[in-house]
This record gives sequence, structure tokens and C-alpha cells, in this order.
Amino acid sequence: MPNVAKYAHVNSGILKADDESGGYNDSDEATIPVVRIARKMRGGSQSWLVEAADGFHYVAKFRNNPQGSRTLANEWISHRILRHLGIATPIIQRLKFGSELISANPDLVMHFGNRAARVEAGTHLGSMFPGDPAETAVYDFLPDRMLRDVANLQDFLGTLVVDRWVSNVDVRQAVFFRGKPRVWAPCVAAHGSKRAIIALMIDHGLSFGGARWEFSDAPSSGIFGNPIVYTVTASKACVRGWVDRVLYFPERVIEDALSEVPDEWIDGERGELESLGEKLLTRRQAVAQSVDRALSGVFARP
Ligand SMILES: Nc1ncnc2c1ncn2[C@@H]1O[C@H](COP(=O)(O)OP(=O)(O)OP(=O)(O)O)[C@@H](O)[C@H]1O
Ligand SMILES: [Mg+2]
Repeated sequence: MPNVAKYAHVNSGILKADDESGGYNDSDEATIPVVRIARKMRGGSQSWLVEAADGFHYVAKFRNNPQGSRTLANEWISHRILRHLGIATPIIQRLKFGSELISANPDLVMHFGNRAARVEAGTHLGSMFPGDPAETAVYDFLPDRMLRDVANLQDFLGTLVVDRWVSNVDVRQAVFFRGKPRVWAPCVAAHGSKRAIIALMIDHGLSFGGARWEFSDAPSSGIFGNPIVYTVTASKACVRGWVDRVLYFPERVIEDALSEVPDEWIDGERGELESLGEKLLTRRQAVAQSVDRALSGVFARP
């Protein structure tokens, strides 16, 4: 089982593929085989918790999920953007599900109305679980008092700016757990080795309008359900800082992210994906206005 030190390496992306301690690299080309199916998770994409050959657990989303295979590409690209900006989000990997594993797990199905579909063998997406699920409690929601204590609360503001840029038409979602900020949220000012509540941004599947691959600016898109995460952190200077980081976001990071998306997730639509990337880069100019609109909605709430 990987230890905390290994998560620290993983999160700072410093292990190389040939490193003897596990072969991990943030920009690894590898697809990691899944070795065990654990349990079904909640949610519209009908994801499953699985264990992979690298010893980590992942929440796996499948190419043939009810929200469409493009949502996997969306997750990948948004995750690359968030990580480049130093915003805490689980590492996402390409996971390989072999046909033997699928045959040995007849429960591994998704339901579309009254029809059940087997998960297809091949490459799917995994969002790394922050620790051992048998020992680490992970929550989808926190009461206000605990939310104010989240060590990386300012990441919600950065993520809002990204969500407006990529037109995430979902509400913003995160998971919360107790861990060491220096491992999980390395951009937070020093906390020593003390544990704190960490938020990891999850579920970017409805970026780019979901399966539509369109940009829009609906006022409530990408907003987290509890405005405390913005009211505590959103000074004008901070908003400006995040908007500027998007404005000068390196094109190379987007190009690399697009090239890493497996063909299996986009059904041969490489041209459409390239065009999405070009529109995304052009759209950097429109982000300031879109963020202002979203935040004025948040602050106007009673
Ligand atoms: N990396 C992760 N670590 C721990 N838990 C996770 C992780 N990713 C997802 N989850 C859990 O799995 C659930 C489903 O994940 P997610 O929201 O990404 O999928 P979804 O099917 O799109 O859900 P929904 O339709 O509810 O938005 C989350 O509510 C969360 O509890
Ligand atoms: Mg979700």
C-alpha cells in the first residue's frame, strides 16, 4: 500500500517513470491496469471505486457512461489546467480494464433506464482516492464551521475562474478529508506537518458544456453550493490574480493535455478536439467578464 510519502511525490509529480519506488510520473504515458473492483459510487456517471496495479485506489468513470465518452476527455483537460495552476485536485489516470477482470465482476454494469450495459474492456478514467478507502473518511459536504477551516479554501476561487473559462455547466464539486496540506495542497502557505481539512476539486466532466463541446456563460455555472468558500477568500486582488493566470495560461499545457486524451474517449473526433482547444485559448480574453458575472450573482444572494 502506498504511504503518505509516496502521495507527496505523486502530488508534486517528481517521480520518474523508471523510479524504483513505483514508477509514477504526473505526465506518464502509461495506462495502469486495474486489479480489483471495490464498490459502486453515487452519481450520474455511475462510477466505481477500484484498486489499480500501482497500489492506489481510483474512482473510475467509464467510456460508455450515461453522460457520454467526451466527459472523460473533459475531466482530463480540466484536471491538467487545475494542476498546472497548483489547485488541489486528485490526479487523474488512464486505467486499463481487462476482459478477464470484467468477466470476473458481473456486477460491473451501468444502468440506462431499464437497460443494463456492461463496462467495456479498454481504457477508462480514474480519479485518485486520497488514501486508503478503508482508513480515510472522505466527505462530499461539510457544515459551515468546518468549511471555513479548510486549509486550501482559496482554491475554490481559482477553480471558479477555471470553471468559467472551460464552461463547466455543472455546479462545482469537491471532496473533503483530513490530511497534510504539504502533501495534498502544496500551494498553501506552510502548515508544518499538521493535519488539516483539505478540499480536492472533483468532477470536471461537464466542462465544455459536457458532451456538447460548446462554451456558454450561464450565471450559475461552476459555482459551489455554499457561498462561504468565496465570501471568505474573494478579494478583488485575488480574483484579478486568478484571472491573469488564465489570461497568460501557457498554450503548451493545453496542447499536451489534448494530445494525452486517448482516441477511445473521443470516437475518432481528434479534429473537433483540436478545435475545442483553439476556442478555449481564444476564450481566455472573455474570462474576466464571465467571472464578474458569476461572483456578482454569488454576492447578491441573501
Ligand atoms: N478522487 C476521488 N476521491 C474520493 N471520492 C471521489 C473521488 N472522485 C469522486 N469521488 C466520489 O464519487 C462520487 C461521484 O463522483 P463524481 O461526482 O465525479 O461523478 P458523477 O457521476 O459525475 O456524479 P454526479 O452526477 O453526482 O455529479 C462523488 O460524489 C464523490 O463522493
Ligand atoms: Mg459529480
